[in-house]
Amino acid sequence: MADLKDRIEGLRKAFEAEALKVGDAKSLEELRTAFLGRKKGHVTLLFEDLKTVPAEDKREAGRQVNAFKTFVQDGLLALEGKVRSDGRPARAMDLTLPGRKKYVGAPHPLVLFQQEIENIFLGMGFAIEEGPEIETDYYNFEALNFPPHHPARDSWDTLYIKDDLLLRTHTSPVQIRVMEKKKPPIRIIIPGRVFRRETPDPTHLPMFMQVEGLVVDEGATFAHLKGTLEYFIRALFGEKIKVRFRPSFFPFTEPSAEVDIECIVCDGKDPSCRVCGGTGWKEILGSGMVNPQVLKNVNIDPEKYSGWAFGLGIDRTAMFAYGITEMRHFYENDLRFLRQFGAK
Ligand code: PHE
Repeated sequence: MADLKDRIEGLRKAFEAEALKVGDAKSLEELRTAFLGRKKGHVTLLFEDLKTVPAEDKREAGRQVNAFKTFVQDGLLALEGKVRSDGRPARAMDLTLPGRKKYVGAPHPLVLFQQEIENIFLGMGFAIEEGPEIETDYYNFEALNFPPHHPARDSWDTLYIKDDLLLRTHTSPVQIRVMEKKKPPIRIIIPGRVFRRETPDPTHLPMFMQVEGLVVDEGATFAHLKGTLEYFIRALFGEKIKVRFRPSFFPFTEPSAEVDIECIVCDGKDPSCRVCGGTGWKEILGSGMVNPQVLKNVNIDPEKYSGWAFGLGIDRTAMFAYGITEMRHFYENDLRFLRQFGAK
């Protein structure tokens, strides 16, 4: 390492000395070849030698060689200006050009929306948990009470990596991971990406976001589920929004319900509404009482504890909240779209 440093220092001095002598295009070209020449240039040789530097020193050595290369390139550029026949610097400055615009980054609309959701639940005493996007069959399905080959698996169009490894189709597997580690009382939300085999269209994408919620405690009831979700939806959409619970089925909850909110785009009045399809309602989440079998799977006694859970689609709820009819806008990073949410 010390060797390399000395060599670079020596080469730096040599470059400076030679640079003073450059007076025309020919001598400049010679200097360039001496240092940057493809075969025997000093800088090129330094890069060659990097290959023999021990692994632990490589990073620092690489940094030094690169810095020296930049030094040489800058030096050559400055000399170019000096030797040009018209005496103009190599990069003449055009003072009439408009200035370069500086772009200021901003949180993505879905991140903002996710934070809004998180804040409502944090305010109710929920904690935030996360889990892996690549899952095993056990966590994504089996522990959630999907028997092998059960047809209910078909409604989660799964992207497999290998036989037993898949991209999680929902955030529910994190329920299992958390319950394996923590004992009740549990009160958490789990935001994250999920993946399904979907052909992209205005309301479907192969990747989207969910927020899972899970409460496990003594005496947790469906009334708590209902009250909490209603409070949450009102906090997000305003006091007046109409909410309805519709019976549904999930293997990991019993009983189960899907939650619809009234279409705020057409107020339920437009039979050809593109957002609610004329039904006047928009489904935003699935929910239910944690199936006792799921509690058994993680060694929580269902005689003593009960739980409730929900899974909310962040993208579709955000589309609804902002009146967006095309889900792909969220992932195209078109500034004309992003600027409407604070990007500059
Ligand atoms: N995981 C379900 C889905 O992706 C939603 C859900 C979560 C339902 C928790 C009930 C309880 O559709």
